[in-house]
Amino acid sequence: MEQEGLHEIASQLKHPTGEKGIEIAIMMNETNINMTRHSIQNLNIAKESLILELGHGNAGHVEFLFEQAKNLKYYGLEMSELMFQEARRINRNFVSQKQAFFSIYDGNAIPFKKESFDKIFTVNTIYFWQDPQKLLSEIYRVLKPNGNFCLTFAEGSFMKKLPFTQYGFELYSTEKVQNLIHKTAFKTVCTETLTEKVKSKTGELADRAFTTIVVEK
Ligand SMILES: C[S@@+](CC[C@H](N)C(=O)[O-])C[C@H]1O[C@@H](n2cnc3c(N)ncnc32)[C@H](O)[C@@H]1O
Repeated sequence: MEQEGLHEIASQLKHPTGEKGIEIAIMMNETNINMTRHSIQNLNIAKESLILELGHGNAGHVEFLFEQAKNLKYYGLEMSELMFQEARRINRNFVSQKQAFFSIYDGNAIPFKKESFDKIFTVNTIYFWQDPQKLLSEIYRVLKPNGNFCLTFAEGSFMKKLPFTQYGFELYSTEKVQNLIHKTAFKTVCTETLTEKVKSKTGELADRAFTTIVVEK
């Protein structure tokens, strides 16, 4: 694929926009559903929890989240206006029942008061964080005491083989993420790396290693 095409894929993954952004979001949700479910399951969600997700894409997985326990409230934050709209459209029933709430933010300052959430998670977004240490401190601030944060990402060793990740992706190994976390007040609960088969853009199957790190405030 030409350099321009790879650049376009990278910028859509980072910030979906336009007609193409809707298609990319459907593809992302399908390809990444295993990672997303793994992140949600590692949160051990109890009934009546308030949950925040950063970078939900089209949020096609919110129904799965609501299956985890009763009387949950889900809050989604996105930087992409298109993903905010798509998430609201796909989850319109949950939105009208005031179970799901979506907002846009700048990717740095989380627009909620301190100690607002029981659980926070994010999947496949760390590659785009402008200031990881600052965002981790924001996540810490809005999490309740003893609350959990679940960070799920594909390992840099896999990501670096994808031709588009050279355009605007910061790649992470487990060790590199752990070093970031060690600089915060979070306590690590568990770290798990799994490998799954995923279909590449050219249709071949590839082994993707991904990691979920669960931390506690
Ligand atoms: C690669 S997609 C992943 C979407 C979904 N979580 C998944 O795994 O399929 C990255 C998404 O995160 C959003 N994003 C990028 N930087 C972000 C940040 N700092 N905070 C929240 N969302 C962000 C993008 O707009 C995009 O929708």
